[in-house]
Amino acid sequence: MTAFVRDQWYVAAYSGEVARDLLARTILGEPIVFYRTEDGASVVALADRCVHRRYPLSASSLENDTVVCGYHGFTYDPTGTCVRVPGQTRIPRTARVRSYPVVEQDSLVWVWIGDPDRADPTAIPRARHLDSPGWSTVRGMEPIDADYGLLVDNLLDLSHETYLHNGYIGTPEVAETPIATSVDDEAHIVRVSRRMDDAACPPFYARSTGIDGRITRRQDIEYFAPCLYLLHSRISPVGDPTRAYHTEITYAITPSAPGKVYDFWAVSRDFATDDVELDTFLHDFNRDVVIQDVDALNLLQRTLDSEPDGYQELSINIDAGALAARRVLAAMTAGAADGASASAAGSAPGSASASASPPSSSSASASASASVTG
Ligand code: FES
Ligand SMILES: [Fe+2]
Repeated sequence: MTAFVRDQWYVAAYSGEVARDLLARTILGEPIVFYRTEDGASVVALADRCVHRRYPLSASSLENDTVVCGYHGFTYDPTGTCVRVPGQTRIPRTARVRSYPVVEQDSLVWVWIGDPDRADPTAIPRARHLDSPGWSTVRGMEPIDADYGLLVDNLLDLSHETYLHNGYIGTPEVAETPIATSVDDEAHIVRVSRRMDDAACPPFYARSTGIDGRITRRQDIEYFAPCLYLLHSRISPVGDPTRAYHTEITYAITPSAPGKVYDFWAVSRDFATDDVELDTFLHDFNRDVVIQDVDALNLLQRTLDSEPDGYQELSINIDAGALAARRVLAAMTAGAADGASASAAGSAPGSASASASPPSSSSASASASASVTG
């Protein structure tokens, strides 16, 4: 299993999911309950276990901005401090539950998992297109019963589109076109780009843009380890670069527990932003694509679980981005941010060793994706 990276921000929910109902999410193995304060301004995140007999607070109820435990009535304020216990006026000093730092940004609810004193909101990567004028977004979330490292592998290697998503977003050119990979070890960013000069237009883009001929297609990935993944996609008809369509595909990879991950996905576009039918098409079509990945990763995890230890994994050129991501995650886990001595690249799922070398630890902040859409 891929080790969890603590002392990091993770997407816990979409802003629209957190309201006056108690929302339960388990993040890096920590059960957390989320709710919005009455004035709508803040999101509260508390440990989802009552300090008394550990009843889940998510199965309890809100009273103004406090949570009243549904078992015996311990009542907690937004800081996690117990402000009322039943049958007595004295409140035990230890009657409190942990509260988590939360930041709401770009329509995402980020929660800090780790030492609260180290939580720096400015370190949260941006996904402005999710909540900006001129963009329209459809979104969803699918839980997967797989090591989050398998989802990282999946998203960093889009050659699988040709096979797993054939007839949806995949065409032969995706798997056939070489990638360029670069790593910013200091910022923990992996970039992978693929430029297709003359490619078939897959149904996803043909139906959303009306293009019926061949296209130039650019895929520029930025993975801000450990959680945020952006795919800057740009297509235009071959020979007509002025007719360009930008799509931003966002994933948040949030480990829930060992062998479980939340797969947050969103598709944002800067064209036909008022087209409600297109919203429906893109939502339903992309959800089908995501479910193809979910099914594949569930199957892959079950397959890996049934294997004896020590399987020698084989890697090839297309794996360069995923191997780089594994190395970055391993370095972050070890606390070695520069990653230079991260020899633990094989800690990724099902991997005893990797035969292809990951890209060198170049500090390529000006990477191949410099011209991506924003
Ligand atoms: S378990 Fe919450 S008050 Fe008893
Ligand atoms: Fe996929």
